[in-house]
Amino acid sequence: MATHAPNDLANWWMPFTDNRYFKSNPRLLAAARDMHYTTADGRRILDGTAGLWCVNAGHGREPIVKAIQQQAATLDFAPTFQLGHPLAFQLAAKLAGIMPEGLDRIFFTNSGSESVDTALKIALAYWRARGQGQRTRLIGRERGYHGVGFGGISVGGILANRRVFGPGLPGVDHLPHTHDARNLFTRGQPAHGAELADRLEALIALHGADTIAAVIVEPLAGSTGVLVPPQGYLERLRAITAQHGILLIFDEVISGFGRLGAATAAERFGVTPDLICLAKGLTNAAVPMGAVAAARHVHDAIVDAPGDVPGIELFHGYTYSAHALACAAGIASLDVYASEGLFARARSLEDTWAEAIHSLAGLPHVVDIRNFGLVAAIELAPRPDAPGVRGQAIFRALFDAGVLIRVSGDTIALSPPLIISPAQIDEIRSALDAGLRQLA
Ligand SMILES: Cc1ncc(COP(=O)(O)O)c(C=O)c1O
Repeated sequence: MATHAPNDLANWWMPFTDNRYFKSNPRLLAAARDMHYTTADGRRILDGTAGLWCVNAGHGREPIVKAIQQQAATLDFAPTFQLGHPLAFQLAAKLAGIMPEGLDRIFFTNSGSESVDTALKIALAYWRARGQGQRTRLIGRERGYHGVGFGGISVGGILANRRVFGPGLPGVDHLPHTHDARNLFTRGQPAHGAELADRLEALIALHGADTIAAVIVEPLAGSTGVLVPPQGYLERLRAITAQHGILLIFDEVISGFGRLGAATAAERFGVTPDLICLAKGLTNAAVPMGAVAAARHVHDAIVDAPGDVPGIELFHGYTYSAHALACAAGIASLDVYASEGLFARARSLEDTWAEAIHSLAGLPHVVDIRNFGLVAAIELAPRPDAPGVRGQAIFRALFDAGVLIRVSGDTIALSPPLIISPAQIDEIRSALDAGLRQLA
């Protein structure tokens, strides 16, 4: 096992990291297996976050490791512009098989951010192909996270991710977020807030439906601190978009692959969008990969249209779209999910999970708890003088106690691998209980 710490931490400019703090207080992960990481100094850490919401089947799973090893020795890379390789078609068929009915055309990317930009571009190309090229407006939502591309930060609604990066895409507007003080400490879907979807009617009245290409939302908002959709909210959003012929995009980069107890949030909530953005769990995070699942009518409108230039229908793609190693990892991951029934397992653990997390209500600083599927958030009151400091403090305390959690500001977000046992759920609960009692 590689447990040697590097001598020099200066060169790597780390993403979404307090680089100055980290480099004087490094935390290095050196190995991982099933539910645990091992640090470079040999400590075991229970993974309460599936890495970054992505290692849904747990770490180092043998069928996935073997598939990648074998593929690397057989076909390392094949161009996918005007050429193909068998695994890409196999994975597309397998993935289409677990998408909602009709969303069976798959475009491969390498990350969630790329999936979002791809879906937005498909929406624009769709309207152009249908002779309505004036439909260029994109509607996102406050507090939304859609990755870090210029498209994603434009439709996204997390201020820190946009603030220093200029004006972003033109012609973007936002729905209100769905956090509602009437819903505090709700288990599962909150009762209040379906009417927030009606704000889309106001945006349509303002801009005109015939200028709007698509609405993009996370069905369950993850990175902002876990906002569960109010009962009836997604249904209303679907009804309004359908009524006005606007495409609906679900960004399921987090909510896909069993996180909510079904293959997709669309399936779990019974609401079918026109496009679904995927990544993370697609390969169990063993090789970077994303995908967009498109409804047949969206795909066909573009692929069957005469097009501006003869030949290629959609001038879009990445060198590594459908990379052979990622396809091998994807096929093996979907097989593990199916053979171990992990999506159903997440569903069956949901009540145990909710019970454990909601038992933390009443502890110091806890102002809200939210849960759905195998996701939960514990929101802490920020220190008035120093927002975010409590979040960092609890993250560090839990890491030192052997449990990995994630924090977004002062909100703790939890999303363990779907193989977690009830005893490990209790281990997370009791570590949080102890940590919160000691938090200043
Ligand atoms: C909903 C959503 N969309 C997009 C992304 C971006 O994915 P990536 O970091 O792979 O680009 C994320 C990442 O957390 C996400 O949660």
